[in-house]
Amino acid sequence: MTRDLFSDAPDAEPPRGKEAIGPASFVLRGFALPFADALLPALGEVERRAGFRHLVTPGGFTMSVAMTNCGRLGWISDRRGYRYGEHDPATGAQWPAMPAVFERLAQAAAAEAGFEGFRPDACLVNRYEPGTRLSLHQDKDERDYAAPIVSVSLGMPATFLFGGLARSDKAARIPLVHGDVVVWGGPDRLRYHGVLPLEDRAHALLGSRRINLTFRKAG
Ligand code: SIN
Ligand code: FE2
Repeated sequence: MTRDLFSDAPDAEPPRGKEAIGPASFVLRGFALPFADALLPALGEVERRAGFRHLVTPGGFTMSVAMTNCGRLGWISDRRGYRYGEHDPATGAQWPAMPAVFERLAQAAAAEAGFEGFRPDACLVNRYEPGTRLSLHQDKDERDYAAPIVSVSLGMPATFLFGGLARSDKAARIPLVHGDVVVWGGPDRLRYHGVLPLEDRAHALLGSRRINLTFRKAG
């Protein structure tokens, strides 16, 4: 990578590039930045139609991450279990359609990581505030595991935990900032992952929030 004279200036753009974090897992640094101007208003529209809510786990715990969905299918959790459904249980309406810019970004990121032709039908939107965490879990409620997971970070920085196929495997700590995209699939599709509790490091556009868009092929 070439470094120019001004690369340490305070307003220097974060580095772009592809970092392998597994045989079929990559962090695409800054990959979402060219899409951000269109992503944020589209996100606002999704949020207006299907508001963030704190779901309850089957075990009765309220999740600290607030969630909503867009796309044909949405992921939900309640006392009956985890599942995908076509309707928002809060309103009975269909989930808002996946904005075209979301789909374009997810498809492009997947292709960059070697997964051509990714057509997500679900986008889980996670909202983190200072102190919010997401404990280690596998994404395994999708019907088949051939498609990758594409995960877009916006707003405050976070530390992503990327573990192995067993819960007890040591997890790598990966710093993620606004615009980074993580893609994992193939032999890595069922790797455990999570997010450490967020520190309050307000972001210029999103304030003391982190938004994560997780694209899946669920149905
Ligand atoms: C998730 O696993 O659903 C979200 C991961 C993240 O927020 O980076
Ligand atoms: Fe996940």
